[in-house]
Amino acid sequence: MERMKGDEPKKKVTLNLLYAVSTAVIGSLQFGYNTGVINAPEQKLRRFFHNVSMERSGEPFTSETNTMVWSFAVAIFSVGGMIGSFSVGAMVNKFGRRKSMLLSNILALIGGGLMGLSALSRSFEMIIIGRLVIGVFCGLCTGLTPMYVGEISPTAVRGAFGTLHQLGVVVGILVAQIFGLEFLLGSDELWPLLLALTILPAVLQSIMLPFCPESPRYLLIVLNQEEEARKVLVSLRGCEDVSSDIQEMKEEAMKMSMERKVTILELFRSRTYRQPIIIAIMLQLSQQLSGINAVFYYSTSIFETAGVSQPIYATIGAGVVNTVFTVVSLFLVERAGRRTLHLIGLGGMAICALIMTISLALVKSNPSLNYVAIIAVLGFVASFEMGPGPIPWFIVAELFSQGPRPAAMTISGFSNWAANFLVGQGFPKLKDLCGAYVFIIFMVLLILFFIFTFLLVPETKGRTFDDIARGFAADTENANPSSHPEEVVVKLPETKESAPMSP
Ligand code: GLC
Repeated sequence: MERMKGDEPKKKVTLNLLYAVSTAVIGSLQFGYNTGVINAPEQKLRRFFHNVSMERSGEPFTSETNTMVWSFAVAIFSVGGMIGSFSVGAMVNKFGRRKSMLLSNILALIGGGLMGLSALSRSFEMIIIGRLVIGVFCGLCTGLTPMYVGEISPTAVRGAFGTLHQLGVVVGILVAQIFGLEFLLGSDELWPLLLALTILPAVLQSIMLPFCPESPRYLLIVLNQEEEARKVLVSLRGCEDVSSDIQEMKEEAMKMSMERKVTILELFRSRTYRQPIIIAIMLQLSQQLSGINAVFYYSTSIFETAGVSQPIYATIGAGVVNTVFTVVSLFLVERAGRRTLHLIGLGGMAICALIMTISLALVKSNPSLNYVAIIAVLGFVASFEMGPGPIPWFIVAELFSQGPRPAAMTISGFSNWAANFLVGQGFPKLKDLCGAYVFIIFMVLLILFFIFTFLLVPETKGRTFDDIARGFAADTENANPSSHPEEVVVKLPETKESAPMSP
């Protein structure tokens, strides 16, 4: 439903809305914390593996076995993430949004507990299983939080609130980097506590969630509980008149009742959904294949190559820049729009990747270039947070209506985690192979994603979910005027509000 002229978009942010959003983004914080927490204590954990092996068999692990166990503990987190993100759709359809978040915290307790007790139990297996469980938990968080936040936010601030998910992630990474310092929790004695700390936010979120409302879109569109949905909307919007929200949801509900249940396969088969799902997947891939986690997972060695004497502090510097620019994006996203910011971010990253490559390649012969290299890394991170960091996470919820949304979040989240796994595992090998030129690979990918975004990604700023979905339907219709009887979507008669979407 498009806004009428002179009808100001509702921007009112009530305390209830803030409370619900803040509670949900604790899940984002968890994802960030567990992404960042494993880096600092690497040497301590390796020493622990060595000691356990000595105690068990009287012989230490060979350095290859030690590296293998370590890499496994790192990689299994993304494998868990793939499993978790793949379960999001089924879970929200069965339990709803709020209960799913509550239930997922059980995994944080189990995973955190296993890792926290691993040293006491002299078991490195508990770290590996703990990382797997925590990965599943974080995979769920990356779907549940953006979906819930997207569904409870008023259209006018949906992008800014969507960016809060990424803000939670980056703050989580920063907290993990700081707590991981040797003199805080990154010591030989305290690392189990560092890994177990994820239990605290899980408990906090579990206490706060019962006071949050269920998503009104879920109540009305999926459960058909209009009165309940109205009550929730009144409390979230802070005004009695929520008729335009209700009306928009009802239209969506009507459309959904005419759709068959959308499964993952149908997302690809249906012409209406094919374009948005390809866009959703490509945006998630652009986030991960930009190479951001090559910087976050391996920043210490990158800064070492650049000749920095205290790389851990440069890494924390990258964490600070990361956080600051997510805040910048938060303020820009409703003004500049998603598409523009994503393009600026990808372009900026490509340029920084080039500068980084040149300076790292020449730094040995010209040491003063190390400043250029550091600034290029920071510029790379800053550009990432302008668009490619926050936008893919929340735009998926915007590109789909209620029916296909869970399946779409599942598939796009899975793509993100799979690409994350690929970069995490592939980067060290690529770096050995290409040396300082490794970032050229990311530069080429960034340029390709820039072209894709420029040509195919529509602007979703200020538009209702329904309007966006209709835009895709109209595009399909225009491209295929002799429509298709096997189509999954049965279209409503066009109303004068439906506007074809231009990218
Ligand atoms: C995004 C990515 C995550 C990355 C983080 C860095 O949330 O999904 O993989 O580590 O940004 O800020």
